[in-house]
Amino acid sequence: MRSPDLIALGEFKPSDQWQTHVNSIFYGIKGPEIHNHFQTYVSLDHRLAYALAEDFFKQTVGKKPEGRVWTIQEWGVGNGNLAGCFLSRLQEIDFNQQVYPFIHYILCDESEEILKGARANLRLQKHEGRFSTVKIDAEHLDCFRSNSVTKIISNEIWDDLATKVLLKKENQFYEEYLCPHLPPDFPGVNEKVFLQQFLNKDLRELAQRPSFLEAIHWERDFQRVELSDWPFSNILQKHSQNLKDEIPTPVNTGAFAALKKARELLAPDNLGYTGFDYGMLDLKDLNQEGRPYFNLYGGQYTFMVNFPLLEEVGREIGFSEVNREYQNDFVKRSLDSEVSGVVDLVQNHPQAANMLGWDRDILMLRTLQALNTVYHSPYPVKLEYPPMPGTPKKQRKQILQLAKNLSARGVPDTVAYVTKEEVFAALKPLRKLGYREKDIESAFHSKPLPVSFIHIQFKD
Ligand SMILES: C[S@@+](CC[C@H](N)C(=O)[O-])C[C@H]1O[C@@H](n2cnc3c(N)ncnc32)[C@H](O)[C@@H]1O
Repeated sequence: MRSPDLIALGEFKPSDQWQTHVNSIFYGIKGPEIHNHFQTYVSLDHRLAYALAEDFFKQTVGKKPEGRVWTIQEWGVGNGNLAGCFLSRLQEIDFNQQVYPFIHYILCDESEEILKGARANLRLQKHEGRFSTVKIDAEHLDCFRSNSVTKIISNEIWDDLATKVLLKKENQFYEEYLCPHLPPDFPGVNEKVFLQQFLNKDLRELAQRPSFLEAIHWERDFQRVELSDWPFSNILQKHSQNLKDEIPTPVNTGAFAALKKARELLAPDNLGYTGFDYGMLDLKDLNQEGRPYFNLYGGQYTFMVNFPLLEEVGREIGFSEVNREYQNDFVKRSLDSEVSGVVDLVQNHPQAANMLGWDRDILMLRTLQALNTVYHSPYPVKLEYPPMPGTPKKQRKQILQLAKNLSARGVPDTVAYVTKEEVFAALKPLRKLGYREKDIESAFHSKPLPVSFIHIQFKD
């Protein structure tokens, strides 16, 4: 039902249509500012990129690439930190210059604003001559030669790509429809020209307007649908037999299209397509009642990834070897140690759940400070930690002071990976903050949630 006083910005349409519409506006006007709205495991930290580089090195050292070039493509590149850290690590471990000099790393993104930001990334700039950038939509990568790419990587792009939502009830299928609305007093909402700019994705004009994406209110509706018109409908029909009634299930059709393109682009001696994203690892997670299926970050619209279905589609496309696991397990293998994100450690503090937001911020900053007594980052970075709106004056001052004093060689981000050894080496200052050994243990061994960060690898 439409709320009577909200202004509709269009008609109800299947979720994938509005989601991709607002996401291309979001990335098109924000560029690298996206990370003011969310951090990812690769946007500041280096450890996931290092794990990928080490894996790549192991598989290529001593081999000769076809045409003397190892071509790597990354799809959906954000601020370019993954590419920069990947190349730096590869250069560092390639003592005998057997791999790095033959690399061509192509950063592909649909947003020119994002690519501009990535090109300005100092970590990436060190690798001039080894990389290039291409503006392209990952669902329609038509500008590359088939069978020409060695390896494809993506982190948190599938959740942005077109996604339909399926609901099963008494053997009938329903699809989610969305419609964006703005409050009637939002500046400019009644101007015909604003509506035209929004519908035409007129980025230059929209960028000058007050931030309207965050203010969008999404109305939802489920309508009857036949699956026969959907991509990979046979696979989907089979998949749906295992779904419980009335639990919204994402069907990531954009990720299917990207996977199909990957299969075409990968060369005969390829190392596959490696993706990381946020979603459901298995059927049990898919069928978990009340599990979220979408998220909004500063106006960006993301859907969780249905990994069991993605695997089934990958196999149908022709990938014979598909492996999925928790992302932590991938990083753990590379570091040969248990790992946790700092944010998970803070969540396991005995008082964290009862703290006010700003007190939790102070705990986070003090935890970072404690870890920094042992952690040494290979890259100098000043972690930005602005107090959240509404923070009282006293705590605000404290947050600003603590953030200012953080070491530039310390833990680079609140989601950065830390090892169990590092955390136990900082046990003394952590104890002073109220952590007990059992809290630290639980941060490393907590039961994964039905929506988690997953690593999946597709190979021939
Ligand atoms: C959530 S951000 C992740 C960025 C980066 N991989 C990271 O993890 O920090 C998604 C990225 O995918 C890009 N993107 C979104 N839709 C795309 C599409 N259809 N084709 C290519 N890139 C896309 C965005 O511009 C953005 O750079």
